[in-house]
Amino acid sequence: MNSHDDTAIVQLVDVGKAYGNVDALRGVDLTVRPGEVTCVLGDNGAGKSTLIKIMSGLHDYTSGEMVVDGEVRHFSSPRQSLSSGIATVYQDLALAPLQSVWRNFFLGNELTKGPFGALDIKRMKAVCDEELTKMGIAVPDLDRPVGGLSGGQKQCLAIARAIYFGAKVIILDEPTAALGVKQSGVVLKYIMAARDAGLGVVLITHNPHHAYLVGDHFVVLKLGRVTLDASKREIGLDELTAQMAGVSELEALEHELRHDDAPKVAVSPIDVD
Ligand SMILES: Nc1ncnc2c1ncn2[C@@H]1O[C@H](COP(=O)(O)OP(=O)(O)O)[C@@H](O)[C@H]1O
Ligand SMILES: [Mg+2]
Repeated sequence: MNSHDDTAIVQLVDVGKAYGNVDALRGVDLTVRPGEVTCVLGDNGAGKSTLIKIMSGLHDYTSGEMVVDGEVRHFSSPRQSLSSGIATVYQDLALAPLQSVWRNFFLGNELTKGPFGALDIKRMKAVCDEELTKMGIAVPDLDRPVGGLSGGQKQCLAIARAIYFGAKVIILDEPTAALGVKQSGVVLKYIMAARDAGLGVVLITHNPHHAYLVGDHFVVLKLGRVTLDASKREIGLDELTAQMAGVSELEALEHELRHDDAPKVAVSPIDVD
C-alpha cells in the first residue's frame, strides 16, 4: 500500500467501489493538496461521479482507504463530508431558484440576531455582497431570484459560498459542461481564485482543454482505473488529450477510417444487420 502523504487534505489509496458485481472503481489513488487543482478526466462510465460520491459522503468505498486530514474516514452522509471541510458543487446545483441570491448564499447557514433568532437580513445581504465583490463576481441585485442568473454565475456563487463557509476542499462536477466559451472562462477563473485562496480543488471534466488551463495535476480514469497520473510539468496538452481519448482507440479509429472497404452506399435499410 502507498505511503501517506502529509501534505494531502484528502488522499485515496487503492480505493475500490463495487456496485454489486460492477466494479465502478478499482485501485484508485488520488491526492488532494491545498492550493492545487487536481483534474479528474474520463469518458462516460469511467467512474468520475462515483469518485465524487465517495468523497462527498453519498457512497462508501468498498476497498482501500480514504484519508482525510491524516485519518482514515468512511463518510456515511454528505453532512459528514461537509463538516470535514469538503464542499461539493454538483452539476444540478443545490440552489433554490425562486429564492434571492443572498438567501441562496446562506441557505442552511442563515445568520440570526436577537434572543428569538430573527433572520439578520441586513447582515446577510452585506456579507453576501462583500464576498461576491471580493471574488469579483458582479451581481447587480442580490434580491433577484437566483434562477435569473446565468449558469456561470450560479457556479461562481456556489464556489464563493463554499469558500466563505470554510471549505478546505471544493469538488466541482463538470462545471463547464453546459456553458459557452465566455462563461466557461469565468468559472475557470473562480476555480483559480479558490486555488489561490489555498483550497484543494478537484475538477471533474471531460474537457482536456479546460483541465489544462487551470490544472496542476491530472488523473485520467478509464473503466474505473487510473490510466494516467501526472503533474503539469510532466505532461503537455496534446499528450493529455491523447491519453484522455485513449491513444490506442484513436489509432484504431484512424485505421478504420483509412483502410475500411469502400462505403456500402447501396445497402438499403432492410439489408442492414
Ligand atoms: N448506483 C449504481 N449502481 C450500479 N452501477 C452503477 C451505479 N452508479 C454507477 N454505476 C456504474 O459504475 C460505472 C461508473 O459510473 P460513473 O461513476 O457514473 O461514471 P462517470 O461519472 O465517469 O460517467 C458505470 O459502469 C456505471 O454504470
Ligand atoms: Mg458522471
